[in-house]
Amino acid sequence: MARKTLIAGNWKMNETYGEAVVLAQEISNGFYDDWVETVDVVVCPPYIDLKPVKTVFEFDKRKVGLSAQNVYWEASGAFTGEISVPMLKEVGCAWCIVGHSERRTLFGETNEDVNKKAKALLAGGLAPIVCVGESLAVRDDGTYLAYVKAQVEAAFAGIDEADARRSVVAYEPIWAIGTGRTATPEQAQEVCAAIRETLAGLYGAEAADAMRVLYGGSMNEGNAALLLAEADIDGGLIGGASLKAASFIQIVKEAL
Ligand code: PGA
Repeated sequence: MARKTLIAGNWKMNETYGEAVVLAQEISNGFYDDWVETVDVVVCPPYIDLKPVKTVFEFDKRKVGLSAQNVYWEASGAFTGEISVPMLKEVGCAWCIVGHSERRTLFGETNEDVNKKAKALLAGGLAPIVCVGESLAVRDDGTYLAYVKAQVEAAFAGIDEADARRSVVAYEPIWAIGTGRTATPEQAQEVCAAIRETLAGLYGAEAADAMRVLYGGSMNEGNAALLLAEADIDGGLIGGASLKAASFIQIVKEAL
């Protein structure tokens, strides 16, 4: 089954409001509208940059999707510092990253939190980009496939097939994030295939075949083509290289 490639730029905690406008404008300037027929392009700016970035793309009539990097599962209330699904929806987000390894390791996010966030997003009509991936210690002790499988099963607990089909999984080995040490295409493919097998176990082969599995971790314009050529890698979640418009645009071109 032909899955549409998805290229998502995770800006992390980078770009002030003004810087975000400049970066969005640079991406918009380099963007060709017919790309959207073959690839979905999404940017994930910090919360405070969502609206100005959306405005830039809207003004230029660019079909660049908007994603948040995190969300809280309650719709409103006394949760100081948090942002809800309805807030993201109204500002124009169609996507949201959940369970990024930085959230898990630095902010104590659990598999259960990830599951609640994914469910809240789906209930609100947004698509979660569910991140999974093992540490170097888990990779080295050889249990990484079981580890990632358990993360996927936990993230999708109680989510039905129709909602699962709208979700995306991103395999991001922690040892490859921001380190310049990209997984080889074979390493990335092995785990992405195992993720699809896990999804097939949950939802059947046909649904799993329709779902997108991304790779993330030091993906850049130099290695994207080989990674994206793998059978079970349907796109990329790009951190560092998404902060330079020329690099991000080049990665999109590699995906066409
Ligand atoms: P990186 O980050 O491309 O800078 O390694 C990827 C990510 O964490 O999403």
